[in-house]
Parts: sequence; structure tokens; C-alpha cells
Amino acid sequence: MYPILITCPLELPRILAAEVEALGLPIVAMHKAGVETQGTFEDCMRLNLWLRTAHRVLLRLHEWKATSPDAMYAGVKSVEWERWIDPDGYVSVVSSVKTPSIDNSLFANVKCKDAVVDRIRDKTGRRPDSGSSNDYAVLYLYWHADVAMIYVDTSGTSLSDRGYRLNPHKAPMRESLAAAVILSMQWEPGTVFVNPMCGSGTLGIEAALLGINRAPGLTRTNFGFMHVQPYDPKVFDAMVKEARSKERKSRSPFVLCSDNDRRAIEATRENAKAAGVLHLIETGVCDFTETPIPPAPGAIVLNPEYGLRLGNVSALIDVYADIGDFFKQKCKGYWAYIFTGNLELVKHVGLAAKKRMVFYSADLECRLFEYEIYDGSRRPPKAVEAP
Ligand SMILES: C[S@@+](CC[C@H](N)C(=O)[O-])C[C@H]1O[C@@H](n2cnc3c(N)ncnc32)[C@H](O)[C@@H]1O
Repeated sequence: MYPILITCPLELPRILAAEVEALGLPIVAMHKAGVETQGTFEDCMRLNLWLRTAHRVLLRLHEWKATSPDAMYAGVKSVEWERWIDPDGYVSVVSSVKTPSIDNSLFANVKCKDAVVDRIRDKTGRRPDSGSSNDYAVLYLYWHADVAMIYVDTSGTSLSDRGYRLNPHKAPMRESLAAAVILSMQWEPGTVFVNPMCGSGTLGIEAALLGINRAPGLTRTNFGFMHVQPYDPKVFDAMVKEARSKERKSRSPFVLCSDNDRRAIEATRENAKAAGVLHLIETGVCDFTETPIPPAPGAIVLNPEYGLRLGNVSALIDVYADIGDFFKQKCKGYWAYIFTGNLELVKHVGLAAKKRMVFYSADLECRLFEYEIYDGSRRPPKAVEAP
């Protein structure tokens, strides 16, 4: 059993924790941008395969007190690296260093890498290559104040990079964020998922993956854990086979993506094909107000431009007002959502949000606004006065 730190975007640990628990692992601690659990190397492989909202799965090998570069070097060198790193392989070191003991984190990376390589050379007479590529064995050094920890990064590159987004179009959402948005919605897999203004299709593709219970890691071909010694390809192959057997079969599309830019729809189709879910997604080039809405039940989500990176704020006021009208007139019986980083523009929607959920897109604070659109026959319950 090892302590395992799983990182994610800010504000997502609550969703990530639920995912980790659903995989049968305990939550030992919650952080601002991550959760801690404990488990085996095999558990790390499973986490990498199944987690939708995580960025990295980090397996901790050692924690110690380090008040100088030499103390950091000694702590790293005390780990049995010959059991982890192939002496003829390749290793890279990344770090988070905030300590008065050193003012240059690159120097910390080099010193940490030296400790690993020196240990392996002392024990085996050979030494692995090292450099900055994250495609092989990756180690993560955390050194804040006098607390040092060394981890194997079993993801290597961020799990958010699923490998299907061949065409990012413009202002795409990160895949982990899109998955978190969907997991926060009142969307029942098996019902319709509508995504006008789909851009590169991230929300639609993540909904398709979730809808058929496909492990998000199946679209990746490389993980950090594949480059350390305990990795047994047979164990991972069996895990992949098991994941495939848990997929729900669905032949007919249940996701609808539209955008008024033909290039966005081309990007969505290209990315959905790479993710293996094109058959589950219907696409169309049209203004969002013309998106054909299937009968309820279902959920609809829009991620309009919010005037920071794209678009112009005054021109967007009408767009947000039109979204409100579109919800009221065409989306009866739906759960409707707007994901935006502009809290002023959303006031022009003219509907009372049931919920406002905070997310971060990189460093930008955003909100997911939830609206319940009644279908006319179903009215909101009248407030009952307390006796
Ligand atoms: C912020 S991007 C969406 C990004 C998307 N969530 C992704 O992950 O790629 C907004 C999209 O809305 C589209 N759009 C803007 N105005 C529109 C309109 N009136 N009707 C339909 N699509 C529109 C743009 O072409 C753009 O692709």
C-alpha cells in the first residue's frame, strides 16, 4: 500500500473524490486541487484508466525533512530506485519547490535526478538516460518549507489529454473540466444530451464516453506507469479487457452537437471519430436557436463565448438573452445549463438559476448555471407555508 495523491483542477476535488470512492478506494485527505487515497501500484493503473476529472496519479515513495539541497539529495537517494527505474531506461523529474533552502527549482530537479541516477549506478553499474520528456518514467519532487516528498508520476502526461482531440478548434474546454461539468449536471445516461455551441465537441464527446461507461483512459496509448519496473503489461491488458466488458452497448446516437461555424463541426466529428464515439453523436451546422430539440427528458448545455478570450461583451448581451428565450420556448422538460466565465452576461438570460456551481478553467473562475425548464404540464411546486 502506498499513499497516492491525485491532482485535478481547482474546485474539482469534491467530484474527483466521488470518482475515487466509486472505484473502491478511501479518501484520506482533500486538498484544494487534489485528493489523497492509498492503494497499490495496480490501483494506480486502474485510477489512470477510469478517472475522468483527474490530472495526475502520483504514488508517494518517501517523505522526509529536508533543510538543504544535500538533505534533499540524501532523502531521494535512500529510495530503492533500482526496483523502480530500468537502469537502461529514461527518467525525467518535475517538481514543485517552495523552500528557503534553494532559490532555483531547476537546480532541485537536477540534484534530485542525480540522486536517482547515482543510486542506480551504485547498485547496478549502469545508469538510465535523463532529460525533459514526460513520455517515459516521470518522478515528481514536492519540496515546500522543510517537507520533501518524492513520487512516481504514474500518469506521465496529464490525464486530461485523452488523446482524441486532434483538432482543438478555438477556446476548447479541458477534457477533465468537461467531464466534471457533465458529472455535475442532472443528466441521466440513456436520455438525450444536447450541446449547441459545441466548438471542438469536448462536452459532447465526454457525454458520449460517460453515456456508454467507457473508461476515458482507453483512448490513451501511453501512461507513466508503463515505464517503471513493477509494470506488468498482462495485468493492464486484463484491466483493459474488463473495462471493455463494462461498456454499455448503444448503437443509436444520444448526443446532439451543433455550432454555427462549419469548422467547429468538422473538428467535433474528427475528434469524436478519434475517440471512437462518432456513431453516438449527431452534428449540425446552425445557429444555436435552430438546434432541433428531441422530446424530453434530456439535458442541454451551452458554453458560449464570454468576452474575455473570444467575442465582444456588448454583442454577447443579445446572445445570452436569446439563450434564455431558447430555453423557455424550445427546451421544455429539460435540465438546461450555461457554463460561463462572465457573471454579468448571464444576468441577461432572464431565468432564475436553481444552482450555481463554481469551476476553474485554468485560472479563470467560471460558473455552471442550472435551470429547470418546466414543460407546461408540470409546474414548480407552490411554496407551502409553515404551520
Ligand atoms: C467557447 S466556444 C465552445 C468551446 C467548447 N466547449 C469546446 O470545448 O470546444 C463557443 C462556440 O460557440 C459558437 N457560437 C458562437 N455563437 C453562436 C451561435 N449564435 N450559434 C451557434 N454557435 C455559436 C462558436 O462558433 C464557438 O465554437
